[in-house]
Amino acid sequence: MTTSKHLLALLRSHIDEDNDQFLSVALQMAASEARKGHGKVATELRSIVEEARSKKRVQTARPIALAQPKGDLAELLSASYSETRLSSMVLTPDLSLRLMRIIHEHRQQRRLAEHGLKPRRKVLLIGPPGAGKTMTASALAGELSLPLFTVVFESLMTRFMGETAAKLRLVFEAMRQTRGVYFFDEFDAIGAKRTGTNDVGEVRRILNSFLQLLENDDSDGLIVAATNHPELLDPALFRRFDDVIEYEIPTNEIAKGILKARLRTFDTTDLDWDAVVDATSGYSQAELARVAADAAKSSVLDGRTIISLADFNTAISDRKRSSRA
Ligand SMILES: Nc1ncnc2c1ncn2[C@@H]1O[C@H](COP(=O)(O)OP(=O)(O)O)[C@@H](O)[C@H]1O
Ligand SMILES: [Mg+2]
Repeated sequence: MTTSKHLLALLRSHIDEDNDQFLSVALQMAASEARKGHGKVATELRSIVEEARSKKRVQTARPIALAQPKGDLAELLSASYSETRLSSMVLTPDLSLRLMRIIHEHRQQRRLAEHGLKPRRKVLLIGPPGAGKTMTASALAGELSLPLFTVVFESLMTRFMGETAAKLRLVFEAMRQTRGVYFFDEFDAIGAKRTGTNDVGEVRRILNSFLQLLENDDSDGLIVAATNHPELLDPALFRRFDDVIEYEIPTNEIAKGILKARLRTFDTTDLDWDAVVDATSGYSQAELARVAADAAKSSVLDGRTIISLADFNTAISDRKRSSRA
């Protein structure tokens, strides 16, 4: 590669925020400088890269002992570390921009703080099942190198509802102690309307205490709530989040993107994508991912690398049969 090609590659990886790629291009430059007889520059480049890599290892070292919830929290929060990246999600430009903005603001948290500003950190994800809400929580944690703490609802919502408010307080307390992405999945369990058939005193108390905790929270982690049933949520809730992000059934273009991404390592040159997209219309992102994986499996187990329409048709009819069962 020439120097200008290297520069272009550096710039591209910088824009993509792909650190590893950036450093590996720098190493390629070192090799090419060495070939030109510029030993000193080459050595310097290599040592800078090494230094950067060892710093990064320290920064991203997983604080397993620290982050593992203890005591009462152990049953309330399930901790995990996410490798999921936003780039592994196929998103509409609008959705992608909104998620990137959250990540960007968190990465620039210090710069914002210098001006008394805070990143958006309370987000509500709404939309049908399988549309990528849980994956988003995981991608946010992965992109920000933060632990992902999923609130375990079965433990939170005990039969003795008086306990639930106390447990919620514990969770918010944990947020202040350990920075992370705190994920309230199936959020309608907490956020159900205060009026209506479930207007039981206790239910209202739980929602009220959640609203208050959310309002008072000034930790620097990220609170992500998700629900498949936004119509059940109390309208007061929507205002309390910095961002309400809506997920939808995929468009044809997104559907094709998900299928293609899943089958990247296969030969699909002769595949009639439009026919596949037609046959899977109405599928959620999750169903598309599963059908693509099934098609890939039948090809692999046949000893092929080509994916045919027949592979898809089998996967689709299998899915129909199993969802009817
Ligand atoms: N935008 C997306 N791009 C690629 N795959 C997706 C996307 N959304 C969902 N998926 C696939 O569907 C699976 C289930 O999605 P999930 O996030 O659990 O949906 P939800 O939480 O909205 O019900 C994911 O693990 C992933 O395989
Ligand atoms: Mg989910």
